[in-house]
Amino acid sequence: MPDKKLIIANWKMNPPTYKEAEQLAEAVIKSSPKKVDVVLCPPFVWLTDMSHESTGKVKFGAQDVFWESGGAFTGEISAAMLKNSGVDYAIIGHSERRRHLGETDAMVNKKVLAALKAGLRVILCVGESKEVRRKGIDAAKRFVERQLREDLQGIKYQESSIKNLVVTYEPVWAISGGDSTHTADDPKNAVEMIAFIKSILNSIFHILYSRVLYGGSVNAKNAGSFLREPEIGGALVGGASLKPKEFLGILKAAEKYGSMSDK
Ligand code: PGA
Repeated sequence: MPDKKLIIANWKMNPPTYKEAEQLAEAVIKSSPKKVDVVLCPPFVWLTDMSHESTGKVKFGAQDVFWESGGAFTGEISAAMLKNSGVDYAIIGHSERRRHLGETDAMVNKKVLAALKAGLRVILCVGESKEVRRKGIDAAKRFVERQLREDLQGIKYQESSIKNLVVTYEPVWAISGGDSTHTADDPKNAVEMIAFIKSILNSIFHILYSRVLYGGSVNAKNAGSFLREPEIGGALVGGASLKPKEFLGILKAAEKYGSMSDK
């Protein structure tokens, strides 16, 4: 069971030039601690150049993937293309894609199955909206359980699929969206939701061990309050991953609280 924390940088549609992307990646690669698993997810247009140049110190991930393996699907990228380009991970079902592009759980499910089949590691994002959360944590749990049931339907109980699945709990209302008006979830609530997600993965999908992360307004200041929790396997970081100082602060917290058993 890996105790290392996994920290994923979701750059979203940033930065605007390859040079800036390279500088950002270099800053992270230079100082990334050994005891933390780091995944950088640049936009597709920079991704493959970066993954080809990768020295292996950090892994690379896509922000999305398509479910078909090839053919007439304008604008889409297959899991095999990513795999063949040295990309290890794919974020699937991010709430921004669900909201802006109408991505449904049925689509997310097809993407998860295709990505696992091709040998990619999947970062599946689930989480409730503000409207749901207002009804209380039980309503949030019911919502997330439904997402998991639909998004993971048909997943094979093979060791490889299970090992390659990472789930991220990202309450939609806590995602910064690039501004500071949103605030992170309370770590206690995040722990409760993550423990619940693990219980669903266990009881419905027979996944006994799973890495479940938290995402939503994580920064250098609050990272420790999440990462110190053994239940939380790491963080998916948006806005703060574009600021090297902030991101390295998060990696430091991950180093401090991860790999306890190695010390
Ligand atoms: P945030 O984004 O860290 O800017 O809140 C997280 C995400 O959307 O993955």
